[in-house]
Amino acid sequence: MDLLYRPRRLRTSETLRTMVRETRVSREALVYPLFAVDGEGIVEEIPSMEGQYRYSVDRLCVILDKLTAAGINKVILFGIPAQKDSCGSQAFDENGIVQRAVRYIREFYPAVYIITDVCMCEYTSHGHCGILDGEYVDNDQTLEYLNRIAVSHVKAGAHMVAPSDMMDGRIHSMRLALDEAGFLNVPIMAYSAKYASAFYGPFREAAGSAPAFGDRKSYQMDYHNRKEALKEVELDVEEGADIVMVKPALSYLDIIREVSDSTKVPVAAYSVSGEYSMIKAAAKAGFMDEEKTVCETAVSIFRAGADILITYFAMDLARYMDEGK
Ligand code: PBG
Ligand code: ZN
Repeated sequence: MDLLYRPRRLRTSETLRTMVRETRVSREALVYPLFAVDGEGIVEEIPSMEGQYRYSVDRLCVILDKLTAAGINKVILFGIPAQKDSCGSQAFDENGIVQRAVRYIREFYPAVYIITDVCMCEYTSHGHCGILDGEYVDNDQTLEYLNRIAVSHVKAGAHMVAPSDMMDGRIHSMRLALDEAGFLNVPIMAYSAKYASAFYGPFREAAGSAPAFGDRKSYQMDYHNRKEALKEVELDVEEGADIVMVKPALSYLDIIREVSDSTKVPVAAYSVSGEYSMIKAAAKAGFMDEEKTVCETAVSIFRAGADILITYFAMDLARYMDEGK
């Protein structure tokens, strides 16, 4: 056979395969989601997310020691408060769970970069991501609260804020609020293309943040839509977002690709709780190899164009990299 092209030639050894690889994953691009809960002495496993835990502030060292040992130095922080009310006041309390967790991390783990999730659903008695007017989440009233939350996180020492609420105009209004408070250099990572997704199920159990009635479809995006994601990203960038995010990741690789092709800011992808739990459950049942699946899915998200990956598997990925996988 006088074949001119033999693509298999470059697949003949591991040395050659790794040399010609188009996508490389580095631990600098990984962010680990961390749940801090009110209380003391708490390290409790999240039933729907085997291997993931909620930590009280005094026990955060358990996970932070492991993370730093694994070379993962970026977290996105979520708070689970002991008390909720209609306007989520624990979210902007200077002694709220996130604010205390941030101060703890800054004091004892100064090398850790802290991103805080800015939203209200973990803090409101009704579980929605904003202030209600009847059963509708009122956009403009919510903005004021989000600003207060973001500023209070940064005052506590957060390095970056990540609004996940999907209200209109929140990036512009949050940028102004941060600047006014003197935080000109604190970046905003916008959850720009955040879809109303069943894949958040395990997270809502973890954070106790499921809506008490209805769903989030009046603010999070309809998953039938593609152009709308580009519009949301464009608006957020115009409003001053430093980084944009697509969420979830695995069912939205097409969106990650389009966003990364069309925007000039870094793109983050959030591989959400349901993606984590699916792999865990399938691996536990013996249906799939966990390590191989974790690597393949993470690479697929970077290959789609993500620059940053938020994943519950961050430490596992770091370990696989150390082992040369
Ligand atoms: C808060 C928020 C959610 C997630 C991140 N921020 C839940 C939601 O919107 O219902 C989901 C994260 C995950 O599923 O891992 N708005
Ligand atoms: Zn929310």
